[in-house]
Amino acid sequence: VAPLRVGIAGLGTVGAEVVGLIEQQKRALSLRCGRTVRVVAVSARSKVKKRNVDLTGIAWAKNALAIATDPKVDVFVELMGGVGDPALSAIEAALRGGKSVVTANKALIAKHGSKLAALAEKHGGALNYEAAVGAAIPVIKTLREGLAGTGIDRVYGILNGTCNYILTRMEREGLSFAECLKDAQRLGYAEANPSFDVDGHDTAQKLAILASLAFGTKVNQSAVYVEGISSIAPEDLRAAEELGYRVKLLGVAVRTETGIEQRVHPTMVPRTSSIAQVMDVTNAVTIDGDGIPPITLVGPGAGGAATASAVVADIADIARGVRALPFGRPVARLKPTAKAPMKRHEGG
Ligand code: NDP
Ligand code: HSE
Repeated sequence: VAPLRVGIAGLGTVGAEVVGLIEQQKRALSLRCGRTVRVVAVSARSKVKKRNVDLTGIAWAKNALAIATDPKVDVFVELMGGVGDPALSAIEAALRGGKSVVTANKALIAKHGSKLAALAEKHGGALNYEAAVGAAIPVIKTLREGLAGTGIDRVYGILNGTCNYILTRMEREGLSFAECLKDAQRLGYAEANPSFDVDGHDTAQKLAILASLAFGTKVNQSAVYVEGISSIAPEDLRAAEELGYRVKLLGVAVRTETGIEQRVHPTMVPRTSSIAQVMDVTNAVTIDGDGIPPITLVGPGAGGAATASAVVADIADIARGVRALPFGRPVARLKPTAKAPMKRHEGG
């Protein structure tokens, strides 16, 4: 069988790890997929920047679009970020050309996911985005494939590693918000624009994707009520502790009688609850299914290695010829953006 030829646009925290992981897992991937997986082209903004990965034998493409339209590339992997171009037009070009696409870009999937999924279906390629939510946690697969036959009432959890890391260190070490954010950036957890993390938008994007998969709604980030953690100080966390609570930034999507409610906000959870034990960069997602006890997935929610793990799993699916179910078929109704004040004592 011919090797699967992979082209990667973006060689930052995630992209460089993906190139390294494919090389490191070369033998295992070829055994699992029945064919070799080979990175044949890469691109980034700077050709001269020192990168912590060996690019010997890999072609340097002029830009993302050149990879997306290269006939010698089978899978286009987008790891640049951003909701618009160059990511969007490169993904569209790849899908139009019948290629499969893998991306970790939740901002782009939350905004254009339904449209891109339709393009993928029309032209026969796959659109895989497991890394977009919960990094290494296989939550997209769980909702899309594992629970395809189960009605879902609620999906909620800690979906942003940066915020959970900041809240953890503020509480444990009494550090300032700014110090903790700086460390999250240094560790490669935060978005290029960290206000996406701390203002709750990254969680909202991920929640919109999960809600779409769980409830069959169109991905709609604008229907999510959003409140972040930037105004929280160590004293707030201490006050919560005295009352027997811990503060977590939660994303909650729930089926109601009038539609799907989606909200993101800091939440006081009882210190003894399982969600309160989720610390540092760890994420946790709980799915309440119809007729089954809740399922909770817990794991590393950000960082190069954790994210690369999901990106490479998506590439492996394509190498094996696994095609995901379509994304976000509209069957339920979204509620308009919920209004504050929000519930404070969520989680079990
Ligand atoms: P980085 O900022 O570390 O890397 C971005 C890469 O894309 C860099 O190599 C950069 O080039 C390149 N790039 C950016 N803009 C352009 C452009 N306009 N044209 C060409 N190349 C460009 O980001 P991350 O690796 O952290 O994130 C990548 C994606 O993965 C994002 O969508 C992010 O949301 C998502 N993600 C990230 C996670 C994480 O933990 N970091 C977790 C889950 C998802 P250069 O290096 O030359 O500057
Ligand atoms: N900035 C994101 C986070 C990366 O901290 O969760 C993972 O999606």
